[in-house]
Amino acid sequence: MVPASPVARPLRHVARALFPCVWRGKYFSSGNEPAESNRVTPMFRHLMYKIKSTGPITVAEYMKEVLTNPDKGYYVHHDMLGEKGDFITSPEISQIFGELVGIWFISEWMSSGKSSAFQLVELGPGRGTLTGDILRVFSQLGSVLKTCDISVHLVEVSQKLSEFQALTLTDKKIPLERDAESLVYMKGVTKSGIPVSWYRDLKDVPKGYSFYLANEFFDVLPIHKFQCGETRDHIEVCPEAGVIIQELSQRIALTGGAALIADYGHDGTKTDTFRGFCSHKLHDVLIAPGTADLTADVDFSYLRRMTQGKAASLGPIQQQTFLKNMGIDVRLKVLLDKADEPSVRQQLLHGYNMLMNPKKMGERFNFFALLPHQRLQVGSHQMGTCQSKPSASSPVAGFGELTWQ
Ligand SMILES: C[S@@+](CC[C@H](N)C(=O)[O-])C[C@H]1O[C@@H](n2cnc3c(N)ncnc32)[C@H](O)[C@@H]1O
Repeated sequence: MVPASPVARPLRHVARALFPCVWRGKYFSSGNEPAESNRVTPMFRHLMYKIKSTGPITVAEYMKEVLTNPDKGYYVHHDMLGEKGDFITSPEISQIFGELVGIWFISEWMSSGKSSAFQLVELGPGRGTLTGDILRVFSQLGSVLKTCDISVHLVEVSQKLSEFQALTLTDKKIPLERDAESLVYMKGVTKSGIPVSWYRDLKDVPKGYSFYLANEFFDVLPIHKFQCGETRDHIEVCPEAGVIIQELSQRIALTGGAALIADYGHDGTKTDTFRGFCSHKLHDVLIAPGTADLTADVDFSYLRRMTQGKAASLGPIQQQTFLKNMGIDVRLKVLLDKADEPSVRQQLLHGYNMLMNPKKMGERFNFFALLPHQRLQVGSHQMGTCQSKPSASSPVAGFGELTWQ
């Protein structure tokens, strides 16, 4: 677990990661690192029986079984995040990441007419840290959002992680409602009094004006690998990501809102990116299945195509540019000024460096957004309606500079 900060609120949340963890975007190939001592895992046996009885399986089937098999899947049983886990993610590194994402949603809500209600929908919320940081910003900007009816909807396949999310987010005095058979398998109320519900599939989340969020979610969806020897000798395609982007685009076209996707990836240029992580080290994807995370870079050009013109897209834009545009330097200064203890200041600076340094997460991670077409037409007449290259003049915060209206 990430060590708890010794300081009191409001800086209690800054202590996230001052230890040498890897972020999963760091490596490019599956490598030949030493194997785990115990390779014959329950998942290995499950796959062996499956292959013996029904024949060979695709890479996508392998990835899906290993990660999300309801019985033995890696995500179903592990808490893989943090120092004792297998990797670290941006919201676990610094509170500033989630705060700026929260500001992004408020900025989009304001720019699109301050609807009287919205749903915050997170795909793959991990420990619930990101939504927790966003909700703290919503509370702090309560005067802006006071007339808005907000609800939280979490899409999570892992029972174990959903329990962590409930611990992070909900008010312990109000018991959770559970129904394993229902499409809404858990319900509760957040510490700030907002209703929160859990689903296994985006399709089950009620349709309505929503802000969607996915940080390091698309990279764990199963990929197909093709070797064709044209310009790229490997091609990785993730049809499940395509289906989710189509669903998001349709919803945004129908009811408005926006989706913000953050992940490591490329714009249709990379080849073999399938890799595994275990205990912060690169892990051969075929060894001891079920004990390591499997991941592949997100192909943003494919996500853009999968909108099928229903929603406009922005990005990908590098994490360091997005966070800079969102005002990370100002936020860091405010937190540093408030921090009395040198250890807290050190943690803040360390987190900033991890998120922003081009050699760390600054250039490898990208932001990508889906928006209603009219959102880009209103603010910037020179932009196209379908796909827009981010520019300083973008009317959308993060993809251009944040300006309050
Ligand atoms: C790499 S973790 C990212 C966690 C979190 N977003 C963060 O940034 O710390 C991936 C998350 O997606 C969830 N997940 C994986 N496959 C999923 C699927 N098919 N549907 C819903 N959630 C999934 C995992 O259980 C986990 O919560």
